[in-house]
Amino acid sequence: MGSADSGKANQEAAGASQPIQDLRASPGDTAGGSQQIQDLRRDFGRDSLTEELAGDDPFLLFGRWFDTALDAGLRDANAFVLSTVDEANRPVSRVLLLKDYSPAGFVFYTNYASRKGSNLAENPHAAILFYWAEHERQVRIEGRVERVAREESAAYFASRPRASQLGAHASPQSQVLSDRSDLEKRFSDLEQQYGADAPIPLPEDWGGYRLQPGRIEFWQGRSNRLHDRLEYTIVQAGSASGSQAKAGAWTRVRLAP
Ligand SMILES: Cc1cc2nc3c(=O)[nH]c(=O)nc-3n(C[C@H](O)[C@H](O)[C@H](O)COP(=O)(O)O)c2cc1C
Repeated sequence: MGSADSGKANQEAAGASQPIQDLRASPGDTAGGSQQIQDLRRDFGRDSLTEELAGDDPFLLFGRWFDTALDAGLRDANAFVLSTVDEANRPVSRVLLLKDYSPAGFVFYTNYASRKGSNLAENPHAAILFYWAEHERQVRIEGRVERVAREESAAYFASRPRASQLGAHASPQSQVLSDRSDLEKRFSDLEQQYGADAPIPLPEDWGGYRLQPGRIEFWQGRSNRLHDRLEYTIVQAGSASGSQAKAGAWTRVRLAP
């Protein structure tokens, strides 16, 4: 279905940016304190999500919302939060980039030996969260994760810019570094090793995961906090509702906001 690499999603080459001027001068400086935070709110109301608009297929709806976010040029439209669970059953979250999706699932690439990789090896249940602020839309996706085929990872890795390929080799993701120069040295050593043209192989510990959803919820902000929430749940073979709906089909309900 959609490739998250297409169109405006690929912002790796987005324009050079200025260093950020962080505002708070010292830990005791209370600028931006709690009253200001409490006053931060806005009403929503750009759009609505009716059952008729949503339809029966959550992948089609996801595709419509995702394409709309890409076409609007939303920054990092393919960024999402991935939550995993650690060995003590505690949730762990971080931002990743969606690289592909289809009815088979949502694909992202990372280091298999990272913290998320070890979480997923222990417990393949995970959750994905997209938030497109400008469109007042949130999508929550829950399911099981599995590794994508090695050839699929290799094909994607080969399509990445050379510097990103070297970066994947250089970074023992989630491990403690003695200091930054350690990482930079690894990178420059690899630059020398592979030179300008030698093909850079797929790192052993690097590749894709595909999250196969069991639940997908679409949230559209509405006024007075009366938001629209439509939840799709996959029908399991032999489940109670399975007598009416075939396995692999989706049921849809509206949730209170
Ligand atoms: C906008 C953005 C996009 C990111 N994309 C990825 C990605 O696609 N893959 C990845 O491994 N890390 C990505 N990261 C870094 C992760 O958030 C995280 O720092 C890293 O994967 C290590 O996470 P872990 O220690 O929980 O495994 C991204 C971070 C940001 C802010």
